[in-house]
Amino acid sequence: MPSLRDSVDRELLPQHVAVIMDGNGRWAKSRGLSRAEGHRKGAEAIEKLMDAALELSINSVSLYAFSTENWSRPPAEIGALWDLLCAFFDEKLPIMIEKGVRVYHSGSRKKLPARVCRVLDEAVLRTAGNKGLKVNFCLNYGARQEIVTAVNHWAKQAKPGESFSEKKMDEFLYTRDLPDVDLLIRTSGECRISNFLLWQCAYAEFIFLKVMWPDFRSSHLYRAIIEFQKRNRRFGGL
Ligand code: IPE
Ligand code: IPE
Ligand code: MG
Repeated sequence: MPSLRDSVDRELLPQHVAVIMDGNGRWAKSRGLSRAEGHRKGAEAIEKLMDAALELSINSVSLYAFSTENWSRPPAEIGALWDLLCAFFDEKLPIMIEKGVRVYHSGSRKKLPARVCRVLDEAVLRTAGNKGLKVNFCLNYGARQEIVTAVNHWAKQAKPGESFSEKKMDEFLYTRDLPDVDLLIRTSGECRISNFLLWQCAYAEFIFLKVMWPDFRSSHLYRAIIEFQKRNRRFGGL
């Protein structure tokens, strides 16, 4: 029997896999742990996903880590998330550099604590020359905010009479250096997109998994890609 990993067709890989890492709170609750503990375990799962994506030589991975709507959570939970994020980059940035990962940030810097902006800037800068897996951390990210910001940026520099286009939208989004999303995975059993990469997912295949994010393993990525490879993507054609 070939392993799950060997069952992935390397010729038919998704270029860009987007992941809604959901279920940290429920994972913790079911174990009588704090939500912060769920987020801590969730951060550990990120490395498992990155390693599996690196192993398959996937081009890009986008990780939904904090939405523009997540500000409605209690300040203590939000603070714990920023602490975890800073600790994550402190510990993992050298490993990411070694593995050739290139870090991107999608999202608004407004409202992000200065220390979070600093670690993100450092990660983006220190990996800027890397040619391996692109990992796009979506933090303080909302697709509607992204689209409105992109249109406003374009409008500020547009010449009189110039019109907007799909190509220009692509150039002004946070994801300008990444291909369109081919595969969107959401964990935790919820079947919604929650304001994630609305433009980029126009023709993405969606896979909803029951697993809570802290329990995510490489096998979940392999299974999702095998399922993706069975889909018939028609892009409106026959
Ligand atoms: C996802 O897990 C992580 C973030 C949104 C930061 P949740 O915190 O949403 O976990 P659930 O959905 O409450 O279980
Ligand atoms: C989406 O999860 C955002 C992230 C995973 C960062 P949420 O838990 O915030 O989404 P809803 O509220 O269930 O739609
Ligand atoms: Mg959630």
